Amino acid sequence: MKIGSTRKDYKLKKKIKIKNNNPIDTFDYWYKNATKLVAEPNAFCLSTIKDKAPESRMMLLKDYGDNFTFFTNILSNKGIELMENMNCNMNFWWKEIHQQVRISGISKLIKTDITKKYFYSRPKGSQIAAYLSNQSKRIASYETLIKKYKKIIKKYDNKKVPYPKSWVGFCVEPLKIEFWQGAEFRLHQRVEFIKEGNKWKKKLLAP
Ligand SMILES: Cc1cc2nc3c(=O)[nH]c(=O)nc-3n(C[C@H](O)[C@H](O)[C@H](O)COP(=O)(O)O)c2cc1C
Repeated sequence: MKIGSTRKDYKLKKKIKIKNNNPIDTFDYWYKNATKLVAEPNAFCLSTIKDKAPESRMMLLKDYGDNFTFFTNILSNKGIELMENMNCNMNFWWKEIHQQVRISGISKLIKTDITKKYFYSRPKGSQIAAYLSNQSKRIASYETLIKKYKKIIKKYDNKKVPYPKSWVGFCVEPLKIEFWQGAEFRLHQRVEFIKEGNKWKKKLLAP
C-alpha cells in the first residue's frame, strides 16, 4: 500500500527554545512543558546494539538530570545488549508539540539500593509482574503467565515481594543531545549539542 500522501503539516511557527549552553537545562524546560501537553512524555525509544545491528523498543524514563535513568531486566535482550555494548540512544517524540529529543550516550548500571527503593515504590501488581517475568524469554502461553501471576499475587498477599535480582536500573550519561522543533513546510529547526571534555558545543543543523 502506498502511503506517500499521508502527511501531517506542522503549523507551529514557534522559534526553537534553547535555554543556554547546557542541553540538560533545555531538556528540563522542554520536558516540563511536555508534561502539560503530551500524553506520555516520559516514553522514549531506546536503541541498543546487538552485534553490529541496532535494536529498538519503547521505554519509560524515570529520572533525569546529568544522567537519564530507566529500569528493566538485565537478562532481557536490551539488558544483555547494554552489558555488551554500553552505547545507546534514547529518542523522545512529543507529537502534540512537534518536538523530538535524541540523546546518545553511555549507559551504566545504577546502585542496587536506588533500584530497590524504586522497585518497592511501584504498585504490588507491577512488582509481581517483574518478579515472575523472565523478560524477553520464550513462554509457553499467555494463559500460563497469567495463571502464574494469580498464584504469586495470592502467595504474597500480606508479604513483601522478593526483590528480583535481575531487575536493574541503567543511567545514561549523555554525550550528544539534539533538539528538534517541527515547523511549516518541513523547515524544521534542529540544535545539536556535543560534549567535548566537560564542555557542550552547540551547532544548528539543516532539517
Ligand atoms: C510505552 C512503553 C513503555 C515501556 N517501558 C518499559 C520500561 O520502562 N522498561 C522495560 O523493561 N520495558 C518497557 N516496555 C516494554 C519494552 O518496549 C520491551 O517490550 C521489553 O522491555 C523487552 O524488550 P527487549 O526484548 O528488547 O529487551 C515499554 C513498552 C512501551 C510500549
